[in-house]
Amino acid sequence: MSLPKAELHLHIEGTLEPELAFGLAARNGVSLPYADTEELRTAYRFSDLQSFLNLYYELMAVLRTEQDFADLADAYLARAAAQGVRHAEIFFDPQAHIARGVGMGTVVEGLGRALGAAEERHGVSTQLIMCFLRDESAESAMETLDAAKPYLHRIAGVGLDSAEVGHPPVKFAAVYEAAAALGLRRVAHAGEEGPPSYVVQALDVLGVERIDHGLRSMEDPALVERLVRERVPLTLCPLSNVRLRTVDTLAEHPLPAMLDAGLMCTVNSDDPAYFGGYVDDNFRAVREALGLSPERLRELARNSFEASFLDHDEERRARYLAEVEAYEFG
Ligand code: ADE
Ligand code: ZN
Repeated sequence: MSLPKAELHLHIEGTLEPELAFGLAARNGVSLPYADTEELRTAYRFSDLQSFLNLYYELMAVLRTEQDFADLADAYLARAAAQGVRHAEIFFDPQAHIARGVGMGTVVEGLGRALGAAEERHGVSTQLIMCFLRDESAESAMETLDAAKPYLHRIAGVGLDSAEVGHPPVKFAAVYEAAAALGLRRVAHAGEEGPPSYVVQALDVLGVERIDHGLRSMEDPALVERLVRERVPLTLCPLSNVRLRTVDTLAEHPLPAMLDAGLMCTVNSDDPAYFGGYVDDNFRAVREALGLSPERLRELARNSFEASFLDHDEERRARYLAEVEAYEFG
């Protein structure tokens, strides 16, 4: 049995395994520029975030119907449950689908179908977080928020992802203000490839409650001190960082230093179909490469539930936290 945990940084489109990609391509009559899953897998060698995003957006072509999104999410939830995930807060990228003629309703209703059954089928509670693509315009982000208005009962919050450098959080001040006025929770990717100042902007200008990645915060001691003082959760993704060459090797990952500094770290999978593992694979990898003690691993799991948006159901959070405390490491 795996350590019980919440997954807080997971792009549903990043769970598209090669087998499902080819299955959906056949179902939808979409042709992929790869002969088979084996040839596709050879494309999974990335030099940076952009080189990954190119493939990530290309493969989305196979996602066309509500059922496709439901199948994608259900496959993720089955894998996540098998890796100890009790609660998942799941990102999706509507602009990447709307640009291909697949509407907001198709995406949200399809994902909603799988998420609505997740508790019963997989024993996983879920929330959806709608991300804006930061390499698209601020106007496009605002149009996306408008398009989501009929579906807000299914959406817990907003996030910010895609190519970071050159697209600072401040570009999205207006749409985050509008999202806050609608009662949406706010998170943003910052400090993955971008500088520590983007983390500061995400906090001060966008009003985010969590930072996705936040790795480069370590370059700014004053920022680290603030993140510790304000107990801002960071959703780290160690295998992603290695695959996207943000860190050279897992053994050099700053996670132990970040925990020692008192930062509220969590461990997540980001885009598990592309980065070599789901969330417990990330836990196992950091345990092995960084020698994290059982108590450190328990701290990461505890943090994941404390940082989750379960404020409307504190009883559930308490139940999950009790499971973490009761877990016995083998
Ligand atoms: N979209 C999917 N995965 C991402 C990542 N790791 N960083 C930014 N945008 C993303
Ligand atoms: Zn991400």
